[in-house]
Amino acid sequence: MEKLYSAGKAKSIGVSNWSIGRLQKMLAYATVLPAINQIEIHPFFPNTELVDFCFSHNILPVAFSPLGSQLEGNFDVTREILMDSVPLNELAKKKGVSLAQVLIAWGLKRRYAVLPKSANAERVKSNFNLISLTDEEFEAINQVSVGRNRRFIDPDGFGYDVWSEE
Ligand SMILES: NC(=O)c1ccc[n+]([C@@H]2O[C@H](COP(=O)([O-])OP(=O)(O)OC[C@H]3O[C@@H](n4cnc5c(N)ncnc54)[C@H](OP(=O)(O)O)[C@@H]3O)[C@@H](O)[C@H]2O)c1
Repeated sequence: MEKLYSAGKAKSIGVSNWSIGRLQKMLAYATVLPAINQIEIHPFFPNTELVDFCFSHNILPVAFSPLGSQLEGNFDVTREILMDSVPLNELAKKKGVSLAQVLIAWGLKRRYAVLPKSANAERVKSNFNLISLTDEEFEAINQVSVGRNRRFIDPDGFGYDVWSEE
């Protein structure tokens, strides 16, 4: 990837699902630092330590599954569904916006990029309709995150053992 970057074939290069431990090792040998680290982040898995580590090393976190994903079978692992969160839904209703818009706004206010996915044209459009959160609303969502640290997506299921150090 560094060779592609140096040859001008890639404007920037990044990584995905890299933990702090693995990034630390990589930073010792990399000649081109990754521009981004694409990782799971949402209020039920705020991933704050890794987010802060990335920022402190000039790596932009990119949030995948920012809406909590909820792939088929996911509930068996997580035992809760982000989109069903009562306080989050109440906040969205009070603001007159969708919960997805709230979740996207929360990620943007935390200063990283957010990657929501939808196969529904209307939802793709509404997800682009950015809203802003007051500091109070932002703090209320942070409170939902407190004590939550359960990963929803584990690439182990696809044969990649990337979080073994956790
Ligand atoms: N690097 C990695 O290891 C990794 C892992 C997982 C995901 N990703 C990437 O991250 C992106 C998003 O992740 P994801 O698909 O897992 O999760 P997500 O974006 O958190 O959630 C997608 C789900 O949310 C629904 N949704 C989207 N907009 C909505 C809205 N406005 N209201 C209600 N429901 C809404 C979608 O249903 P509809 O389609 O029916 O709208 C879909 O079921 C994808 O591009 C994916 O490729 C990367």
